Amino acid sequence: MNKTIAVIRGDGIGPEIVGEAIGVLDAMAAKFGHTFTYQEAPMGGNAIDAFGVPLPDSSLETCLAADSVLLGAVGGPKWDSQPSANRPERGLLKLRGAMGLYSNVRPARMFSDLSAACPLRADIAARGIDFVVVRELIGGVYFGSHSTEEVDGEQKATDIMAYSEHEIRRVARVAFDMARKRRKRVTSIDKANVLDTSRLWRKTVTEVAAEYPDVELRHMYVDNAAMQMVRDPSQFDVIVTENLFGDILSDEASQITGSIGMIPSSSMGDGTRGLYEPIHGSAPDIAGQDKANPIGTILAAAMMLRYSFDMAAEADAVEAAVDKVLKDGYRCGDILGESGTLVGCREMGSLIRQRI
Ligand code: IPM
Ligand code: MG
Repeated sequence: MNKTIAVIRGDGIGPEIVGEAIGVLDAMAAKFGHTFTYQEAPMGGNAIDAFGVPLPDSSLETCLAADSVLLGAVGGPKWDSQPSANRPERGLLKLRGAMGLYSNVRPARMFSDLSAACPLRADIAARGIDFVVVRELIGGVYFGSHSTEEVDGEQKATDIMAYSEHEIRRVARVAFDMARKRRKRVTSIDKANVLDTSRLWRKTVTEVAAEYPDVELRHMYVDNAAMQMVRDPSQFDVIVTENLFGDILSDEASQITGSIGMIPSSSMGDGTRGLYEPIHGSAPDIAGQDKANPIGTILAAAMMLRYSFDMAAEADAVEAAVDKVLKDGYRCGDILGESGTLVGCREMGSLIRQRI
C-alpha cells in the first residue's frame, strides 16, 4: 500500500522522537512491502519563529490532504510570552478542530517489565493497570469563547463551557465500541452535581448505553475519579469524559503507569484519518541531547498503522519489537530502574528497528 503521512516534528524533543518513529515505520514498510511518503507540516513554536503563526495554512492543508498525521510535541518556555491566541498550543487546538478529531484515546497500561517504575504501592500495582481514557477533544471549555475584560476597575476573565447532545453522543459511542472489544465496562466521568454540561453529559451517555446492553455503564464524579485512579486503578476499563476533565485525568493515568514516555495516543473523527502522538510534552530541558524516550511516538505510529491504515499485522510487529527491546533490558532514562541498560533516543530507535 502507498500512504501519505503528514509529519509534525514540533518543538523540543519532537524532532528526535519523530525521527526514530519514521525510522521504525520505514523498517516496517520495507518488510511488508508498503511505501510511505512523508510530508512536513511545521506547527508549534518553530512555526511561530518561521511563519509568525503556530499553524500556517500550508501545514493545515498538508494534514487535511494526508492519509494520516504523526506528531511529536509542541511548545516550550521560549514561546510562553506569546499572546494566548498565538501560543504553540493554539496550533494544536486549531488542527484538532479543523480535522474534526472529536475523540482522543489514551491507553494507560502498565508494561509488566516496567512495574518497578509504577509509583503506586506494590499491592495496588499488583492488581494491574490496563484501562483507556476516551477524551472528548473538540468541545467544552477548550472550544468555548474566551475573553478578558475590565469590570469595575479590575480584570475579569471568562471561558465558556458548552456541550450539545450530538457532541456527547458521538464520543460516547467510541467509548462503548471500545469497551465491547475489551472488558465491557464504561465509566463516564462528570461533575453532574454542579455543572449543567455534566448533567446533559450524564443523561446523553445513559441514552447511548441503551444501545449497548452488553456493556456495563457506571457514572463517577471527576473528583472521586481522580482519587479512585490512585486508590485502585484496576477498577477501570474504558473511561469516557469531556475535554478538560480528560486532559487532567489522562495525565494522571499516564503517571500511575510509571512510564509517561511510553504512552501513545490517537485522535480521530468520523473517517480513518487521525492524529497520532505520544502523550508526553516537548521536554525542552532534555531537547537535542539524545536522551528522550522515542517509544511513545513509535507506539503512536503503531496505532496509526492499526486504526488509520488497517494494518493490524504491521502494528503487531512494531508493538512486539518494543516489547522485545524492553524484555532485553534496554531502557531510556525515564524508565531506567535498577537493572536496565541505559540507551539514548537514537539507539532505542535502532534497537527497535533491528527487531522488526
Ligand atoms: C494534551 C495537551 C494539550 C491539551 C495542550 C498542549 C493544549 O495537554 O494534548 O493533553 O490540553 O489538550
Ligand atoms: Mg494534557
